[in-house]
Amino acid sequence: MVTNLLILGGGNMGGALIRGWLKTQKKTKTLFNSIVLFDTNRDTREKWQKKTPTEPLLVVDDLHDLNTLETKPTTIVLAVKPDGVADAINSLLPYYERESDTCLISVAAGVPTKRLRAICATSKGRMVVLRAMPNLPVEVAQGVIALYGDDTVPAACYDRVARLFSALGTVTRLSEESLFDVITALCGSGPAYVYAFMEGLEEAAVRYGLSPADARSLTLAMVRGAAALVTEKACSPAQLRNHVTSPRGTTQAALEVLNRKKAPLPQLIDAALKAAIKRAQQLAS
Ligand SMILES: NC(=O)c1ccc[n+]([C@@H]2O[C@H](COP(=O)([O-])OP(=O)(O)OC[C@H]3O[C@@H](n4cnc5c(N)ncnc54)[C@H](OP(=O)(O)O)[C@@H]3O)[C@@H](O)[C@H]2O)c1
Repeated sequence: MVTNLLILGGGNMGGALIRGWLKTQKKTKTLFNSIVLFDTNRDTREKWQKKTPTEPLLVVDDLHDLNTLETKPTTIVLAVKPDGVADAINSLLPYYERESDTCLISVAAGVPTKRLRAICATSKGRMVVLRAMPNLPVEVAQGVIALYGDDTVPAACYDRVARLFSALGTVTRLSEESLFDVITALCGSGPAYVYAFMEGLEEAAVRYGLSPADARSLTLAMVRGAAALVTEKACSPAQLRNHVTSPRGTTQAALEVLNRKKAPLPQLIDAALKAAIKRAQQLAS
């Protein structure tokens, strides 16, 4: 079903989702009729109003404008910081008292559905609550999006949300909400780990003689190619690493440095994920 979307918060994540959906909509035309965006920050609203005058994006200055729409959006994405979630939902509820089966999808890290449902429970309307954890590559339709909705979520509502997010990358449905912490550590924060690695490679390559432009483009092409090879071959990353690593060759020399006894790379990565999971749990409590 083609739907109308309302997004609360047009910052980093809300913005990536909007750009991803607008790009996909250009190709498919069937994802949604329009996106309505509300952000409490006037500068953010103005930025969107200036940048996208010809797109099917309506930036409203006040939620009251929802009452003037021909069709009220029934799929709502909440993309505000975790500590702003309650205020954002409370500001929205008065406009949804007569609607039923509105899907509210929160992307806020660490805010459980139980809490979201408790906030929505003050409304006379019926809000179906789901959580999503997208990552920033949704902007180029290559994101990873974990979705969770418990068994009170009607199948039609889940399907509507899954279809929307599938346009932005790979969607996975979590069987347990507690898995969000590891998904956040792996896929939400993951692009930053890859960027940090690329940053280090680029900087070192420049120190050893490449121009900054070459270091950037070659690092990027290498990462893209490495990911494409794992995608195409029915091999694990470990098998492909072995293929690249000839005994006593250059790769082995480098991997020995990365796996020094005191802090071998797999242990460092494990510790990094553990730190991210712990932080996600702290944010939730
Ligand atoms: N960034 C990521 O990679 C990522 C990944 C996964 C999930 N997330 C989640 O996405 C959410 C948003 O993160 P972000 O990095 O996009 O934050 P952000 O850049 O600060 O964007 C949030 C925007 O929402 C506005 N806002 C605050 N309260 C609002 C309300 N009641 N109604 C409408 N707009 C409101 C903010 O305005 P002000 O600036 O004036 O407060 C800001 O412009 C977070 O909960 C985060 O956990 C982020």
